[in-house]
Amino acid sequence: IDGTVYDDRTPPTLDRTALPRRPDHATVLLVAPTYFDVRYRINPYMGGVVDGARARSEWDRLRRAYERYAERVVVLDPDRYGTPDPEESGRDHVAPARLPDLVFAANLGLATADGDGVVLARMATAERAAEPVHFARWCRAVGYDVHELPGEAAFEGTGDAIWHPGRRLLWGGYGVRTERAAYDEIAPLVDAPVVPLELADERFYHLDVCFAPLTEETVLIVPEAFDAAGRDRIDALFERVIEAPLSEATDGLACNCHCVDGRHVLLGAGNPETERRLRDAGFVPVPVSTAEFRKAGGSVRCLSLSLG
Ligand code: ARG
Repeated sequence: IDGTVYDDRTPPTLDRTALPRRPDHATVLLVAPTYFDVRYRINPYMGGVVDGARARSEWDRLRRAYERYAERVVVLDPDRYGTPDPEESGRDHVAPARLPDLVFAANLGLATADGDGVVLARMATAERAAEPVHFARWCRAVGYDVHELPGEAAFEGTGDAIWHPGRRLLWGGYGVRTERAAYDEIAPLVDAPVVPLELADERFYHLDVCFAPLTEETVLIVPEAFDAAGRDRIDALFERVIEAPLSEATDGLACNCHCVDGRHVLLGAGNPETERRLRDAGFVPVPVSTAEFRKAGGSVRCLSLSLG
């Protein structure tokens, strides 16, 4: 079963507990928000004027929250690792100063199952196409193996491909940004089964805005984001499904949250009903303000990338 993509029509007869265990990816990568801005519109949330100073202080607080609950936090400084050299980064060289979404680390790649490498993203939009070059440079400098996908299909990293906590099983969102065909390349590369989840609604343009595995047993989702086949798969592989209200999932990007220690859930501030449901399920919500980043369609989870 390793290295295969489950067919869309079959509900998974997969027994999660029979899959090999996977060490947690204990490192959280953040990209400094030096050049963050909203200058184009590639998702329905993008718009408004970013207050750079506020964005910086929100990001600083998010960083401190991660430092408190995650095992290790590392920061990619685009001024240091963003390559300024057109020779090195190739024909489509774009300096980090012209990549206002580079702060959304989740989209840059996906950690391999054992965490010693990363699968590099191939962005779906021209606006973000040059970002993975800078990330690859950082990976090589700090010692992660970099795997590039052989084909042409778009793949937006852990924005769409999310590891099941604790198990060698990958959830694969596709249909808006990432193309389904990308998983035919990723499954053998990471040597794990992929359970595909189709996304069809522009408001849920990445899997990580509507699907947040909190622990091996529990997931927080936006039910409206999935068709019956997708919902069946989610119900089959988790014991407990917490539903976020649609209004908080869209207006507050409530599902773009991150449980890094099995208990504390970092989520965007202003989502009281989601917080209540998390608390009822035994979690401890840790709200952090992400209002400036929501102007670009991102919140907590998008701003981080879990690595080994
Ligand atoms: N403006 C960015 C984009 O549309 C936001 C990315 C958010 N990332 C995420 N993993 N959901 O690509």
